[in-house]
Amino acid sequence: MTPHFLSIADLSRQDIFDIFDLTAQLKAKTHARVPHRMLDGYSLAMIFAKPSARTRISFETGIFQLGGMGLYLAPQDIGIGTREAVKDIARVVSRYNDLIMARLFAHSDIEELAEYSKVPVINGLTDYNHPCQIMADAFTILEHRGKVDNLKIVYVGDGNNIAHSWINFAARVPIHLVICTPRDYQPDAATLKFAQDAGLSTIEVEHDPIKAVKNADVLYTDVWASMGQEKEAEERKKIFKPYQLNSELVGHAKDDTLIMHCLPAHRNEEITDAVLESPNSIVFDEAENRMHVQKAIMVKLAEQHRGL
Ligand code: CP
Ligand code: NVA
Repeated sequence: MTPHFLSIADLSRQDIFDIFDLTAQLKAKTHARVPHRMLDGYSLAMIFAKPSARTRISFETGIFQLGGMGLYLAPQDIGIGTREAVKDIARVVSRYNDLIMARLFAHSDIEELAEYSKVPVINGLTDYNHPCQIMADAFTILEHRGKVDNLKIVYVGDGNNIAHSWINFAARVPIHLVICTPRDYQPDAATLKFAQDAGLSTIEVEHDPIKAVKNADVLYTDVWASMGQEKEAEERKKIFKPYQLNSELVGHAKDDTLIMHCLPAHRNEEITDAVLESPNSIVFDEAENRMHVQKAIMVKLAEQHRGL
């Protein structure tokens, strides 16, 4: 495994499934209240340039359960890249802390943070990707279906950070991935090429949602305007309307298709209340698994950093 966790593209298939194995063990221990202080005395700096519920809570609670402590640094606290250069923050914070998790705007900023940090850096979302989320999502699919390989996973919505992490996942694990977006909101072409060149998965970009969802094992959506795109929200609502996950669209997929959303959801925009609350929806399992999978990622990175 790489010293940092910035992208699923940096992992091998073995790394991914090793993380899932440890995730399952840690989840079982957490539910059984079996202590697992594998990072006793560790501190995790959590740098946020954007808001968060799940990422903040799951990392802070997760490091606590591992015997360590999380330090929440809100957008206004350290002003990464504005009050102080990213590379200076990297060198300062990594002298105090054993691990860093950061949620930033530009992906190049998290790469710079990692380059200058003495300790492992974990990507808690950038404008480009959200690897912790898609690791938790794939683990959740594994729990519900017993496998991820060769399932048809259809992402309907914006070609954003979530879509990019799914594409990177498809470069490492064979799936049938369909990314269904409006024409002007397609995912990054270089990321698509990278994953297609890996030659493992069938990866399609589609613009017709009804065609896209046919025979889907998993239907996934995300907000139409991501953090930082709030000004575009009204315009996007009109453009993305045909891409809403509603009962009619879901009716074109398999009967037992799993419904997923990274959350936060804008109910009755990208997903209807009825679909979000339907028996096929596993959105809260996904949310819970963020914590378990991130605990596994922290343990793996720390063990490697210690040279175990
Ligand atoms: N899914 C996710 O990352 O949620 P938050 O933005 O609340 O952290
Ligand atoms: N695409 C969303 C994901 C939130 C978890 C955003 O970046 O705001």
